[in-house]
Amino acid sequence: MARVRKQKKEPIVTFIDLFAGIGGFHIALSNLGAKCVMACEIDEAARTIYKVNHNPEMMHEDITTLELDAIPDHDLLCAGFPCQPFSQGGFKRGFHDTRGTLFFNIHQILKHKKPKAFFLENVRHIKNHDGGNTMKIIESCITELGYSFHSFIVRASDHGLPQHRPRCFMVGFANGQEFSPPKRRELEKTMSDILGGECPRDIGFTLRVGGRHSPITGRHNWDGYIVDGEARRLSIKEAAAMQGFPEDFVFPNSQKEAMKQLGNSVAIPAIQDYAKEILASL
Ligand SMILES: C[S@@+](CC[C@H](N)C(=O)[O-])C[C@H]1O[C@@H](n2cnc3c(N)ncnc32)[C@H](O)[C@@H]1O
Repeated sequence: MARVRKQKKEPIVTFIDLFAGIGGFHIALSNLGAKCVMACEIDEAARTIYKVNHNPEMMHEDITTLELDAIPDHDLLCAGFPCQPFSQGGFKRGFHDTRGTLFFNIHQILKHKKPKAFFLENVRHIKNHDGGNTMKIIESCITELGYSFHSFIVRASDHGLPQHRPRCFMVGFANGQEFSPPKRRELEKTMSDILGGECPRDIGFTLRVGGRHSPITGRHNWDGYIVDGEARRLSIKEAAAMQGFPEDFVFPNSQKEAMKQLGNSVAIPAIQDYAKEILASL
């Protein structure tokens, strides 16, 4: 009689979602089979959207009041953290001056919980902020803990989406290992596909938090497009598609709130392409 071979089960990778917003990291990691064990987000409207869509096991509000011992063990720390300025003086005085910035809370969690890897996201300009000192502080704080540190400028449009959205991705591993970023991909959709008409541009503007309804020819316009020769504003569904959110994603609060939160979010396919490489390295 043929012996039935036992299938070897892969352990499920766990992650925490800090500065979670409406859960861009959550969707990307869940799509790859990882499990969120804690989310943290201070903004009530964002938390409402997050809870309706992801039903998190544990959700904390302000990261500055999060007890380190209350954080569940996890393999991967994810954080699209707000960029709080690090002062020139802060860099000169070293890592103690990162206290009071929200990066310090990430640093404390890495130090205390020692996850196998981290994946951080921030605006592109963090690389040049304060003449490059901010990145030096971040890198030295993280490498002092024994983690490797790799940073990349990544565009959403290099990962299938019709939006520029250049962002700084930071990746590292507790065992100090190297990391090769994923290859760029062709656009899967153009602006014409998303807006359902002929657009003069294939790739759209970067979605933002404020500045909606700026004049369509203005410098601050990001939600107005010419479609089939006429000016049109992005709908919530279209803005969600520009960030790679699934069609069944729900926004239970106002249109204004939905657009604000989408402007704050990450571009999901870019996060997912990088996360896939991170999980493969764990
Ligand atoms: C750039 S957004 C991150 C968006 C998120 N990655 C997403 O995909 O939707 C930064 C988030 O940090 C949150 N935040 C700011 N201060 C915080 C704090 N002290 N504790 C927890 N979250 C905070 C903001 O409300 C905001 O939603």
